[in-house]
Amino acid sequence: MLIIESIADMRQFVRQAWAAGKTVGLVPTMGALHEGHLTLMRQACAACDVVVASIFVNPIQFGPKEDFAAYPRDLASDSEKAAAAGVAAIFHPSVAEMYPTGFSTYVRVEGITEKLCGRSRPGHFQGVTTVVNKLFHIVQPDKAFFGQKDAQQVLVLQRMVQDLNMDVSLEVVPIVREADGLAKSSRNVYLSPEERQAALVLSRSLAKAQQAVAAGECDVAVLRELVTEEIAAQPLATVDYVELYGYPGLEDIDRLSGRALLALAVKIGRTRLIDNCILEAK
Ligand code: PAJ
Repeated sequence: MLIIESIADMRQFVRQAWAAGKTVGLVPTMGALHEGHLTLMRQACAACDVVVASIFVNPIQFGPKEDFAAYPRDLASDSEKAAAAGVAAIFHPSVAEMYPTGFSTYVRVEGITEKLCGRSRPGHFQGVTTVVNKLFHIVQPDKAFFGQKDAQQVLVLQRMVQDLNMDVSLEVVPIVREADGLAKSSRNVYLSPEERQAALVLSRSLAKAQQAVAAGECDVAVLRELVTEEIAAQPLATVDYVELYGYPGLEDIDRLSGRALLALAVKIGRTRLIDNCILEAK
């Protein structure tokens, strides 16, 4: 497996793949690879001849008070894991390679970026759409793989691809969880053993809402309250948001009819975690 650091070398690598008539898959990541990322990579390898995984902690999607500097980085261990998953090349550019002096062009999706994580992390999605746009231009993949863990990110990227007529197919992979339900995340390494236990409140509160819907509850306010109460009962947890919208349009709803996205962001100690599920009215 190759580790490629320059944009020119990355382009050269994909040109060779095309010349050999091969399809190219891209798995964008920020590294600290776990089973969630590796599932994306395995699916990419099953669907494409040559798979590139990018590992780039993208500074422009972090707010000034967020964890950009502290974000876990371990290229040696990531390379081993990606190679074992079947990845042909890791694209690992420096910040200066991606954002040289004078960089001043951004891609911004309106509307659906103004709620959920977009509201609590201003500028976050502009950072995501800009870097993914650059990665798509550099690698020009046939297919790109994203996780449903970041449900809003998927919707925003689908919007971008559609609006800008980008010739890439977005493939969405279900949330990968620990055996006890916690969604896998690079940020789980920040959790102390006590916080790790407390973090189960995210998946548990989603499960409560799913049970209520299965029992016939359709009132969005009641469902939100149920989730909020469950989280409030956990002393180490602070709610950032608990929101429920129509899916995939993210329109405001009072009652469940058809599919809805229940998404939450919760701070466990100082670590902000997200999780979500799709609810479906009976
Ligand atoms: P990162 O958080 O590293 O996630 C990379 C990809 O892995 C995303 O598509 C994310 O949804 C997926 N992923 C993470 N945890 C997952 C889990 N438990 N189950 C399934 N998929 C999971 O998301 C980003 O990086 C960045 O915003 C990026 C798209 C790379 C742009 O910088």
